[in-house]
Amino acid sequence: MTPAPPIGTLLAEVTAAAAAAAIPHAGAGEKEEADQAAVDAMRDRLMSAEIDATIVIGEGEKDEAPMLAAGERLGRGGFALDIAVDPVEGTSLLAEDRDGALAIIGAAPAGAMFDPGPAFYMDKLVVGPNCAGHVDLDTPLEETIRIIARREGIRTDEVCVALLYRPRNADYLSAIRRAGAKCLLLDHGDVGPALLAALDEPAVHAVVGIGGTPEGVAVACALRGLGAEIQGRLAPQLPEERDEVREFFDDPAALLTGEDLVAPGPAWFAVSGITGGGGFHRVEADGDGWRTRSLAISHDGTGHSEWLDLRVVPAERPSRVR
Ligand code: FBP
Repeated sequence: MTPAPPIGTLLAEVTAAAAAAAIPHAGAGEKEEADQAAVDAMRDRLMSAEIDATIVIGEGEKDEAPMLAAGERLGRGGFALDIAVDPVEGTSLLAEDRDGALAIIGAAPAGAMFDPGPAFYMDKLVVGPNCAGHVDLDTPLEETIRIIARREGIRTDEVCVALLYRPRNADYLSAIRRAGAKCLLLDHGDVGPALLAALDEPAVHAVVGIGGTPEGVAVACALRGLGAEIQGRLAPQLPEERDEVREFFDDPAALLTGEDLVAPGPAWFAVSGITGGGGFHRVEADGDGWRTRSLAISHDGTGHSEWLDLRVVPAERPSRVR
């Protein structure tokens, strides 16, 4: 019998399977079909794993896309985990075959993961390990940029801040411009840049602005293992979201730290590039299967991250490329 892989490796197999299932849909303009294929692949691999997983953050609520529903239990039994999935992070990017589409999954011991309930949107600040513990979401962004420059040992005009290009984030864009920092304006997908900041890649030093809450929780699992930091605050944008958030949370305006999003202790995360770009590889055809590249991040004692080249053949467990 094949031994059960460590959790980080298992999660990389899950995202590799999702990425391989999604890539044939790149550029087809069909967001839902691509999402469905990736969801099905994730579910299959999680179902056959020796874990007792509960989906805390599922796929589909925001865009009514196909579901891996919150509350769903997956696995053949074993260590009890909370799971956050985003089988295709950046569905529009994949539908248009543009750089940046990723398959992601986060995990933490059962009960450790923040349940965003009806909260679709959250104000977020993500910084890398050099700045962790030195920034605050409530500090004006111009000051935060100066702190980042000092901590990174660079000039403010060398600091690069990634921001989703949305009218709701206009004040942040003005602050970045006033500070004289560089801004990476994102059409979609704030997870990839958050990972780059956390990995201490010089391309991105911070991610700010209002984006998805589920993505924020999943990213918090990754940052735990990389010594990076996220802070957030729910920022409902839709009228019905505002009412539901007020009902669901005791203090909807609370500052959320990384430890609020994932309780102190172990956390795991994996990401596989789908369309490539931003430091993440594109899935490549490889005979009767697909060649994927995934990053597995584990914090179960100490932080550890590993890039894995996995070959995915439909209906088989992804295997390492030697
Ligand atoms: P999808 O995976 O649903 O396509 O979401 C991508 C994304 O851009 C996230 O990275 C981001 O946090 C969120 O959507 C922003 O939402 P919106 O596009 O509604 O501003």
